[in-house]
Amino acid sequence: MAAGIDDIAIYIPRLYLDASDFASARGLDPVKLEKGLGVSQMAMVDADQDPACLAANACLKIMQRNNLSPSDIGRLYVSTESSFDESKAMNSYVVGMLEQVYGPGTFEHCGGVETKFACVSGSYALYDNTNWIRAGESEDQYAMVVVSDIAKYDLESGGEMTQGAGAVVMLLSDEPRLLSFDPRVTSTSIKDEYDFYRPFGKETPIVHGEYSNMLYMMQVKKALETYKKKVRTAGLIDVGPEGTILDHMDYINMHLPYSKMGKKALAYLVRHEWRHLPRWREVLRDIGMEEPVPKDPRGTIESVLADRDFMQKDKEFTRRFTDTAQYQEVYESKLASSLVASRMIGNLYTASLYLGFRSCLEFEHKKGVDLEGRRIGFGSYGSGSSAMVFSGVVQRGYEEIVKKMDLESEIGSRRRLTWDEYVQLHENQLRPEESLADGRGEFVLVGINTDKESSGERHYRYNG
Ligand code: CAA
Repeated sequence: MAAGIDDIAIYIPRLYLDASDFASARGLDPVKLEKGLGVSQMAMVDADQDPACLAANACLKIMQRNNLSPSDIGRLYVSTESSFDESKAMNSYVVGMLEQVYGPGTFEHCGGVETKFACVSGSYALYDNTNWIRAGESEDQYAMVVVSDIAKYDLESGGEMTQGAGAVVMLLSDEPRLLSFDPRVTSTSIKDEYDFYRPFGKETPIVHGEYSNMLYMMQVKKALETYKKKVRTAGLIDVGPEGTILDHMDYINMHLPYSKMGKKALAYLVRHEWRHLPRWREVLRDIGMEEPVPKDPRGTIESVLADRDFMQKDKEFTRRFTDTAQYQEVYESKLASSLVASRMIGNLYTASLYLGFRSCLEFEHKKGVDLEGRRIGFGSYGSGSSAMVFSGVVQRGYEEIVKKMDLESEIGSRRRLTWDEYVQLHENQLRPEESLADGRGEFVLVGINTDKESSGERHYRYNG
């Protein structure tokens, strides 16, 4: 049975920090953000927003656009790593908000949980709900999976230049208009790691940036190895002796903590896939240097990162590799369109991969490409850590949705924050009633109880 993504919508908060303002306040070269990281603007939440509001705003948008009523929705999953309660799931808050519009109790029939595994949990939620549909349990209802996050790092930390906020919601059905997932090939890897984590009670994560980048690439590569085996077993694709599985993915959407990371991660995968193929000889000739090998090729990530001579040579090798015509062709045709939105919005943690998918559809369609039948591969990563590689095929009905996509108008008008406003918001100095943007037509946070009996209880309002 087919199962996949029928429609997708985004909600992006109306405030942003411009990368040039960030660079000048922090004494950085703006080119580092623009070119080095691929960050132009970072979306910021207002004083009256939290990840549940972002999720509810995205859900309302997709329901209204498709004229859906709550009885059309069988499952509502929220995936996030910005959780604010250790027990009460975020989808219950979202249901509460949606019922302000659709009426009390209108979602009572609906099931769902909040899922957590850093940035990869949305992919697990999609997989579980796809299987709910494949198992024939959906009874013609949609599953609504919403990925929502506030990527907030400590002031003056390395991650501060890779912040962002927003939510992406996807409707899943057995007759998807956008993308049907390939069955029996979804592949995962998992490892107990501390590359990036957020201990109880801490609002921002503890991050080992360089380590997390390397782990991301290694874990996705492991999942890709399993994916390749599953593709063979399922008889999905015949790669042939001189090909790689990546040749058979028309597009590759990667997890995007910042847009440049997509380019780095894809280069890593392509390099590993091509190394054993006849085409690699020509690529090496163009690169003009030997591929470097760490002093201890079987060492740990720490030992490889500490091998500064190797790291320097490897950085140079990667730079030359990404400049080759062969890699450029892969980059431009399979990845570049997925990076456009990330540059304008920033890191969305769980939602980054799916913002990239949304961006890929819009900007490839705008190039005039007929997307029907194109296979999209996904490389999902969550710190802590787990990766998931899966794929799907664009469906006949895609154009009806994609032709209406317009990122700028879907984001809406935004207000550029001053540096002082940014710091005030970052340090939670503003109360919800002191919000900076106009939240008309949106769910907003009104307050959080502080008294002993109901501490932490959140109240929301729909500004209809
Ligand atoms: N002009 C042009 N380019 C410049 C430049 C300049 N003046 N200065 C630096 N650059 C380039 C660098 O060469 C580098 O390019 P490459 O990646 O191609 O080597 C790039 O800009 C970044 O520079 P640095 O490596 O010096 O950056 P940094 O060490 O200061 O910080 C970071 C980068 C480690 C990603 C940091 O922002 C960070 O810790 N971010 C949070 C962690 C993170 O995002 N990890 C990603 C994987 S884990 C994950 O994905 C989970 C999640 O969502 C967070």
